[in-house]
This record gives sequence, structure tokens and C-alpha cells, in this order.
Amino acid sequence: MKKLAILTSGGDAPGMNAAVRAVTRYAIFKGYQVYGVERGYNGLINNDIFEMHSRSVSDIVHRGGTILKTARCPEFKEKEVMAKAVDNLKKRGINDLVVIGGDGSFRGAKDLCEMFNLNVVGIPGTIDNDLAYTDFTLGFDTAVNTVLWAISNVRDTMTSHDRVLMLEVMGRSCGDIALYAAVAGGAEYVVIPERECDPNEIAESIKASSQRGKTSNLILIAEGCADKEEAISKAISEKVGKNVHFTKLGYIQRGGTPNMQDRILAARMSAEAIEQLCAGNAGRLIGIKNNQIVAVDIGEALAQKDDIDEKLYKIAKILSL
Ligand code: ADP
Ligand code: F6P
Repeated sequence: MKKLAILTSGGDAPGMNAAVRAVTRYAIFKGYQVYGVERGYNGLINNDIFEMHSRSVSDIVHRGGTILKTARCPEFKEKEVMAKAVDNLKKRGINDLVVIGGDGSFRGAKDLCEMFNLNVVGIPGTIDNDLAYTDFTLGFDTAVNTVLWAISNVRDTMTSHDRVLMLEVMGRSCGDIALYAAVAGGAEYVVIPERECDPNEIAESIKASSQRGKTSNLILIAEGCADKEEAISKAISEKVGKNVHFTKLGYIQRGGTPNMQDRILAARMSAEAIEQLCAGNAGRLIGIKNNQIVAVDIGEALAQKDDIDEKLYKIAKILSL
């Protein structure tokens, strides 16, 4: 019988559970015996591998986090460590592996394919949306919606008190969460690592907008620009005469029930992952481009350079006037 293992790796993301469920059930449907691995690559190294059945993934499609648990595993870059992990799989006769994670997890997956001949397919699971080969990653849509919920709440206080608020969102070195939430949530300013930001320009703009009757302002800042927060606050207090209030959204945006978009994406990507393995096409990353599910060579996919949607960035600026 064909055997396949599945693991989640890196930061958890809403939709990971939906993908674990979909991979498990689709693989069983295709004749696989399925195994779950606990805590990402750590579970491969420590031999925390167990058999999974259809019922093992009952009642999880709507849950945030990951029932398989997840971890970061820096030592997985070492060949001897990887060899131990592969050995634990091969001892059970497992040759196929589905990795749900982000960029770092996929670099590990690429090494597993190239150095150990394991059949690995990746499904992008990270709220950051920082993978160039795919338009969207699992968890991004839900995370942005959580930020929108937060924006609605903080706006009440900002407008009532005529305040300036800087709201920091996640994304590591990617500005997508900030940009999409800024456009959808009507933020006045968005600060992202992919584009320059001039604190004085923001301050002057807030001053000018107050002369046009704007009494409160929301600055959405990506965590990748955290080093600019102080300079922006200083420029605003000097030029506008207002203190900048600060809220860091943190893990609130990483958890929670996945929305429809992420659950459907999980189902579509998981089905494709198994189809690719069945067709003998290992070493692929599953993604979505122009609403079509794609399977891209892992080396090519990871070589692509991620950038923000320039048109959306321009729109963000125009709509905030
Ligand atoms: P996150 O963005 O949430 O950290 P990633 O999937 O990008 O998630 O990273 C998960 C982890 O993958 C990294 O923290 C790192 O420890 C691990 N990893 C395993 N193998 C590699 C590798 N070859 N290169 C980089 N990171 C790796
Ligand atoms: O990759 C997801 C993410 O939430 C990033 O947005 C953030 O930079 C990082 O993980 C935080 O990770 P940790 O779990 O170490 O706090």
C-alpha cells in the first residue's frame, strides 16, 4: 500500500486544519495509508509519527491552529538531522510527504527531495502571504479579516477622541496583511517594508488633512517596519501636535476560525497535492494564480521574488485622501 505522511511547519495559520483534513481524506480516497507527524520537522526527527484515518480529522475544518501542532526547526538545515528524519519515514515504508508551511519549511522540503529522493509536495500555509509563486497562502484572507474587525473597533475610539492611531500588524518582512487591510479598512496611511516611507511626509499630510476637516487618522504599519514607528510618531507630535496612540495586534490575527476562502483554498490545494503525488510529480509547490490551482517546481517557485501589488498600493494612497 502507498504510504504518505503529512506535517504542518512554521507559524500556524487558519486553514491548516482544513488542509490536514482534506489531504488525509483525499489521500485515503486515492488508496494511501496516511500518517500524521507532530510538531513539523521536529516530529520527523523524534519519530512522532502516527497513523491517521478519516475519523482522525473529524470536526476540525472550522478550527484555527493545527491539530498536528507546529514548530520551527532550525537544525533541519543539517544533513545528518535530515537523514535521521528520512530514516524514520523509510522504516515505515513512507515515501511521500505533504508539507504545509511557509518559505523556510519549503526550503527544508526542497532539500528532502533533492538530497534524499523523498516525494514531497508543499501547500502554502502562512498568514504572511509572502510566497511569490502563489497569489494567496492559507490563512492570509482570514488574518486580514481579523485585522478589519480590529480596525472597526479601534476606529470607534479614534473618531470619538479625534486621535491618531498606529496599528501594527504581522507579516514578517511582507507588507501584504497591512496593504490589503489598509485598502479594505480605509486606513489613511499604510507603511510596508517593500516601499520607502518618509515620516515627515506622513506628518505633513496629517496636518494638511486636519485643515480639510479630518479629525482622526489610522496608520497601518507592517511589523517589518517596526523600526520606523518611533520616527513617525515623533514627526507627527512635532508637526501636528498630537500624540500617536499605538496598538500591536499580535497573535489575535494568527488564530481563529478560517473563513470560507481559506477553507475552499485548503480543499482545492490539498486535492491537487495528492493528484500530483499520484501522478509521480514530486518536488512541487501547490498555489493559486488567477484563481487557478497550480503546481510549480519547488526550485523555480522558491527562486521567484515576492513583491506587493503596485496597483493596489497606488489605490491605497488615492483612496485615503
Ligand atoms: P514561518 O514563516 O512561520 O517561520 P516557515 O515555513 O517560513 O514558517 O519556516 C519554518 C521553519 O522552517 C524555519 O523557522 C526553519 O527553522 C525551518 N527550516 C527547515 N529547513 C529549512 C531550510 N532548509 N531553510 C530554512 N528554514 C528551514
Ligand atoms: O509567519 C507568521 C508570523 O506570525 C509572522 O507574521 C511573524 O513575524 C512571526 O510568525 C511571529 O512568530 P512567533 O511565532 O515566533 O511569534
